[in-house]
Amino acid sequence: MRWAQAGPTYGAEIMTTLAPLREAPLSTELDWPDRMTPFTPFDRDIQADPIEHYRWLRANAPIVRAGDPAAPLYIVSRFADVTEGLRDATQFHSQLPGTTTPPGFLLNLDPPDHTRLRKAASSAFSPRAVAALEPRIIELVRARWMYFLDAGRGDAMAEFASPLTIAVISSVLGVPVEHSEQMRDWTTQMIDYLGVLLRGVPDDGSADAGPYRALTGYMNNVLDAAMQSPQDDVVGNIARLRLDGVLTAEETTGFVTILFSAGHETTTLLTGNCIDFLCDHPEWLEFLRQPDGPGQFLNEMLRYRPPVHRLTRFTHEDASLAGYRIPAGSSVRFLIGSANRDEAAFADPDVFDPLRSNSAHAGFGYGMHMCMGNWLARLEVRTILETIGQTVRRIERDTTIPRVPLTGGAFATVGLAALGVRVERL
Ligand code: HEM
Repeated sequence: MRWAQAGPTYGAEIMTTLAPLREAPLSTELDWPDRMTPFTPFDRDIQADPIEHYRWLRANAPIVRAGDPAAPLYIVSRFADVTEGLRDATQFHSQLPGTTTPPGFLLNLDPPDHTRLRKAASSAFSPRAVAALEPRIIELVRARWMYFLDAGRGDAMAEFASPLTIAVISSVLGVPVEHSEQMRDWTTQMIDYLGVLLRGVPDDGSADAGPYRALTGYMNNVLDAAMQSPQDDVVGNIARLRLDGVLTAEETTGFVTILFSAGHETTTLLTGNCIDFLCDHPEWLEFLRQPDGPGQFLNEMLRYRPPVHRLTRFTHEDASLAGYRIPAGSSVRFLIGSANRDEAAFADPDVFDPLRSNSAHAGFGYGMHMCMGNWLARLEVRTILETIGQTVRRIERDTTIPRVPLTGGAFATVGLAALGVRVERL
């Protein structure tokens, strides 16, 4: 039995009252209001619009067990508990026991491997390498947006956000744009196989390893080419880490592979969330024309409607959080989408306010795995919002194209799969 420490401190003498750790209730056994189904992590309706469930969980059951009762997931919903858990890598691990993380897969590594790889990889994203990307990103954003604006209407996800973010990440990684659609398909198709590699899903042969091998093979070739004469850009810097023996060939290949997959869906969804919001509230176009407007708008959107809503960690031993026991071998889901709406952390959390005093959200994660590409995502989405502000007089939904919430996948992302939009030039 583990105990929680919950007591006042008097001078140098530490007086503690020890209380037994509580068991987290099962979501299905809670007294949910009639209008709500119990929270489960794999419900498509909840994924499409989870905010009311989050609010109820924070108020009534801040840590709850959900999913299969035989192998429940522990769901954490309050800002303080989410950020405490994500900072605590000794209790909450990124690697599932019994699995072998492919080399270079930063997100799934624990210290000391994570620390070593993150330090080396961060050096590849030097301020110089980042600054060098800006003109190219501006060019790509403007070209794609003008194409959409000239058409005057279309699906903003399929015809603007998705091709743009693929073009940007391909450009960053030195992948010719004519190959990028193929790469995106491999990224989507390898999800099942990654489940086998990273999540302990039994390998019954049904998950096809082909797309994963094809993508890593392609990335290996990209790095081989960059090694011939490494430039002062991100991929050149990563190639240099291989040349200098700081990282192995497998590590650099794995790292570049996850950069491609981590970089495009998230940025696509954030772009869609911004455009969707503008369709409902076109009065914000004026704010985007102010010098700091786009940066403040996108930061608040990352709090208000972040593309990533939950992060997974695993306990290797019995753990405790906020007075609850989380047994060894558990899978824990930290709801950053809920943390960002926690009234204990943000005043009027359901109000979109880019000028709010507390802008320190968890939309890019928290702790040692916090998003490494956040500068690139910010640069890209800020450029998109600047461009929209400078060029659009009127924006609204085009109801002839359905607005489709994203559902399925790993259920961790929230955003749109399709969004019909009409735009008029300024
Ligand atoms: C709006 C866009 C983005 C969002 C919302 C986002 C969100 C996140 C979040 C929440 C994490 C933490 C994951 C965890 O703790 O388990 C993360 C990690 C990461 N992201 Fe992003 N991301 C975005 C764009 C990008 C881009 C453009 C790149 C790279 C080109 C990127 C690369 C990474 C990497 C490498 C990690 C792993 C860091 C580590 O494990 O130390 N992300 N991202």
